[in-house]
Amino acid sequence: MRLILLGAPGAGKGTQASFICREYGIPQISTGDMLRAAVKAGTPLGLQARAVMDSGALVSDDIILALVKERTAQPDCAKGFLFDGFPRTLAQADAMKAAGVRLDCVLEIDVPFDAIIERMSGRRLHPASGRTYHIRFNPPRVPGRDDATGEELVQREDDKEETVRKRLQVYSDQTRPLADYYRSWAQAEPATAPRYRSISGTGSVDEITVRALQALADCP
Ligand code: AP5
Ligand code: ZN
Repeated sequence: MRLILLGAPGAGKGTQASFICREYGIPQISTGDMLRAAVKAGTPLGLQARAVMDSGALVSDDIILALVKERTAQPDCAKGFLFDGFPRTLAQADAMKAAGVRLDCVLEIDVPFDAIIERMSGRRLHPASGRTYHIRFNPPRVPGRDDATGEELVQREDDKEETVRKRLQVYSDQTRPLADYYRSWAQAEPATAPRYRSISGTGSVDEITVRALQALADCP
């Protein structure tokens, strides 16, 4: 299965990606997680990306496309993968199409913006694994600690309210058009385009997982 998870910041892409990837036995490719790992490691890429990410803007298409190309060439991607947070611009989507990357499905998770602000303000992250919690909606067993390792959880730098608003604006301007892009491609060329599915991302984490797996059931 080769899958794109599409959705606004805070829609629950990372949360649902882990369940979907477990179900299909495929790796999760989160460009956001990869960039945060580079920032943490202090690599040249991380140093370059940090200020852009903290401001809520997008990292350049060239950098992202190089990252994704390198990651998808790794052996664990042979059986498929899930893109979480990629593509995020029409240029990124076009580059994938031009490179002939075959995709089975694009799944959009749709959540109203007012719910998103609440989700992001309570989000906590386990940096080493990318596992995500919410202090109210998806709390860890021990407050402030990762369930699997017991390590400390942190708040993301870009989860401050004004940065969240900026990220939502960037999403509306640059990423939302991808929904129409993939929907029209699926209508125009059903034999070759990825199938397009959209689900509501409002409700409990478990309810949305059920919706997501049902929506993907008839994708190859
Ligand atoms: P990235 O890490 O991709 O951030 P994002 O798209 O803004 O998405 P988030 O990770 O914020 O949200 P999510 O949908 O994964 O939600 P989550 O599951 O965590 O990107 C960060 C930055 O990197 C970008 O701003 C950009 O600068 C750069 N970047 C990355 N990719 C790029 C690209 N391709 N091109 C250019 N730049 C790029 O859930 C959110 C919270 O809600 C959590 O606390 C969770 O526990 C909670 N929650 C989840 N589901 C529910 C539910 N059903 N009910 C209640 N709470 C819930
Ligand atoms: Zn995420």
